Amino acid sequence: ENKGLKDYYKAYFPIGVAVNIRALKGDEAKLIIHEFNSITPENDMKMGPIHPREDFYNWRNADSIVNFAIKHHIRIRGHNLLWHAQAPAWMFKDSTGGQVSKEVLLKRLKDHITAVVTHFKGKIYAWDVVNEAIDDKPDNYLRNSLWYKICGEEFIPKAFEYAHAADPSAALYYNDYNSENESKREKIFKLLKSLVDAGIPINGVGLQGHWKLDNPSPELIREALDRYKSLGLKIQITELDITVRGRNHNAQANADSGLTPALADRQAARYKELFEIFRAYKNVITGVTFWNVSDRYSWLDSRNGGLAGGAAASDQSNPVIIKAYPLLFDENL
Ligand code: G3I
Repeated sequence: ENKGLKDYYKAYFPIGVAVNIRALKGDEAKLIIHEFNSITPENDMKMGPIHPREDFYNWRNADSIVNFAIKHHIRIRGHNLLWHAQAPAWMFKDSTGGQVSKEVLLKRLKDHITAVVTHFKGKIYAWDVVNEAIDDKPDNYLRNSLWYKICGEEFIPKAFEYAHAADPSAALYYNDYNSENESKREKIFKLLKSLVDAGIPINGVGLQGHWKLDNPSPELIREALDRYKSLGLKIQITELDITVRGRNHNAQANADSGLTPALADRQAARYKELFEIFRAYKNVITGVTFWNVSDRYSWLDSRNGGLAGGAAASDQSNPVIIKAYPLLFDENL
């Protein structure tokens, strides 16, 4: 029989993939159906795309993805209910164009989360409720976003409460990147612990997993998994990819010479190392999702503004496209 990844991982956890609607046809759709049993919409459930005006929700793309997944018995992760990026400008403005009050913003947040979670109720098994609320700078705790500036810390527990009220059976996650970095890890831990201690409905933490060939080390990843696990939370790897290039501001040095056999071998060894860790943590890891289907398209490619580009990507006179080749499947799938 012709088994896919999801079948080999049946005893472990679902294997997921982030998609946009372009991936739902042709040979990529076939690949998705064969290999994966979880889908995350890459952009189409985010606040800006799905709620562009206060009185209008744009369900179209998100519904297409959800219907595709249901038709093919693939479970769905919702991404995301609150983020500082891709949030619509109207959310933070009052009728005179000034900044809204905390009361109004929390009311709008409640309306948004209630509408979106209710629309997909029973279809989404896990939601990324709050995305990337921790600051990267070692001295700061929470990111100084408009959410934080206007509401203080309160928007985080509130978001979880609103989501839980709208669909009590969906698992609720806090999701972030660099979650293995020791200083950021401890800040995420502090936030998660405060939520757990306060009895806020949170089920797990998402480690995005936008990783490099050598970083973070296996030790750091295990330490992070142990640390979050100690809170009694579930863990998902939510946005896995391994770029074969670092950011290099010398356009020449960064030129795209393709995925060489040597780089492909290192990447394969790295994926093997990671999945050996994930399997060892199968009691706490409840899903591993790749961020995009194949090397035909990755958010990391320079044309998409991603990290692979460096100087060449931002130099308009040099339209060279530099690819990151970060995924399991190559351009020929
Ligand atoms: O939809 C518009 C389109 O109308 C317009 O013509 C086009 C022109 O640039 O832009 C389109 O929007 C782009 C959107 O992706 C859809 O393609 C945005 O400019 C672009 O910024 C956006 O990038 C997404 C990014 O989040 C936003 O910050 C990436 O696709 C998406 O992969 C990325 O995903 C995030 C996760 O949500 C959270 N974790 C990090 C991860 C990578 O940044």
